[in-house]
Amino acid sequence: MLPLSAADLDEAAAMLGDPRVMRYVDGATRDRASTARALEANERCWAANGWGLWAIRDVTSGAFVGQAGLQPVTEILGATAEFSIIVSRRSWGTGVATEAGHAIVFDAWQRYSGDEIHAVVHPDDPAAGPLLRKLGLRLRDEELIRGAMAQVWQIQRVE
Ligand SMILES: CC(C)(COP(=O)(O)OP(=O)(O)OC[C@H]1O[C@@H](n2cnc3c(N)ncnc32)[C@H](O)[C@@H]1OP(=O)(O)O)[C@@H](O)C(=O)NCCC(=O)NCCS
Repeated sequence: MLPLSAADLDEAAAMLGDPRVMRYVDGATRDRASTARALEANERCWAANGWGLWAIRDVTSGAFVGQAGLQPVTEILGATAEFSIIVSRRSWGTGVATEAGHAIVFDAWQRYSGDEIHAVVHPDDPAAGPLLRKLGLRLRDEELIRGAMAQVWQIQRVE
């Protein structure tokens, strides 16, 4: 896997422009310009912190499958990094989020110095909670985040 970057713009913009994928992520699709800004912000995050979002690609074909990793968060009390994962619609249900998610969370503890990683989930998202539970996160509570009630999930560093 490589850090998500401007080189992934075409595939990331197609994924983030899909209303089925974005239904429970920020409540809206992203246009190409907004995706480009997000990719630039992610490159700055990697440069500043040594962690960020990865591009998930099929190991055989190289096809873009999705994005996942840590991103900065300011809206959750006591949190600095949020785990996020988005998979292209055609790869849902294939186990890729489980496989990539495990690897990314494990790797994140080597790169991120904090003791907790959080995740924000839309309460109606049927897949995100079960996935996060498989990855070892636990539901903390529901909070008003970015203007809407959201589930806050977290996982703690184990020494
Ligand atoms: C959440 C998401 C990444 C899961 O991707 P995926 O490739 O389908 O995930 P996997 O095939 O690895 O399945 C992982 C687990 O997710 C859960 N899951 C996936 N789809 C589900 C659904 N429709 N209903 C309930 N649980 C579901 C299951 O627990 C599943 O494990 P299982 O197959 O052992 O039961 C994908 O649905 C997605 O990109 N959704 C939009 C973005 C989003 O909601 N991201 C979460 C923000 S943290």
